Amino acid sequence: MELCNSKQVFDKALNGGYAIGAFNFVNMEVLKGILSTAEANKSPVIVQCSTGAIKYAGIDTLVAMVKSIAKDMSVPVVLNLDHGKTFEDCKMAVDAGFTNVMIDASSLPYEENIALTKKVVEYAHAKNVTVEAELGVLAGVEEDVVAATNIYTDPDQAKDFVDRTNVDSLAIAIGTSHGTHKFKGEAKLRLDVLAEVEKRLPNTPLVLHGASSIPKSIVEEAEKYGATLGGANGVPEDTLSEACKHHICKVNVDSDLKIAFTAGLRRHLTLNPDNVDIRKYNSEGMKEVSNAVEYKMQQVFHSANRA
Ligand code: G3H
Ligand code: 13P
Ligand code: ZN
Repeated sequence: MELCNSKQVFDKALNGGYAIGAFNFVNMEVLKGILSTAEANKSPVIVQCSTGAIKYAGIDTLVAMVKSIAKDMSVPVVLNLDHGKTFEDCKMAVDAGFTNVMIDASSLPYEENIALTKKVVEYAHAKNVTVEAELGVLAGVEEDVVAATNIYTDPDQAKDFVDRTNVDSLAIAIGTSHGTHKFKGEAKLRLDVLAEVEKRLPNTPLVLHGASSIPKSIVEEAEKYGATLGGANGVPEDTLSEACKHHICKVNVDSDLKIAFTAGLRRHLTLNPDNVDIRKYNSEGMKEVSNAVEYKMQQVFHSANRA
């Protein structure tokens, strides 16, 4: 089917007590791994590209790949721009055929975040494209912005922000961070902040970034074949599952798929040193991506059989 915008999938998720995985991809193999698994599990799915992915693969190539695979699928597929930083980033994605865009102006002063988000919303809505914005700051590195600590989303500000921008979904900061090493000590997520935001915005789908769980089994598989990921850790899956039952409707996953793909590739190349067939080692990466996505859909987000 044709690509959907986020409204078409979030309304059901918000009322159904589950969330939709938003998986990053930069190439055909990862994309195919994600989409074939969504179809097999009858799960709605969001695939997303960062501006870095667009620079790497080319925007028209990425859109064409998604559309050509999705046209033969029966589950809803949303194509999202991940962490657009400027109006121009978002306009480029809308014009190229993305069906949801994220404007991440969270590092700007509050009023500037509002002004830029409003400008993107006006442009995108006119073309039936939905918009995600962000409020609060995730610890670690978000694109080129480095923050030492989390600045949790202020629930009152979240309400004011959504009312004034008319944004379709809101990414909130409750203690997650991007990348493969998320917590120094024990994982701490502020589900109380989530509950307060939810109370003030009962109809707004919320988004969790930096939500990879960095499963031990995948890390060990990658390390068995030479990767060095010492101390990698992620968001506990029981906490994620709990958040998905609440108003978290979109859960962003990039790092887990990067590790999974790397594990498959490394295993194949190590065990088959005589192979130079690109399809063979890429297929191993794809298979690992597929396993990781299926596990999320079935066991963590509970989006399987919801399409
Ligand atoms: O949130 C950022 C994503 O993990 C994208 O990472 O910029 O390396 O493509 P990337
Ligand atoms: P992870 O690094 O936890 O996979 O987060 C990805 C993300 O939030 C993309 O926007
Ligand atoms: Zn993110």
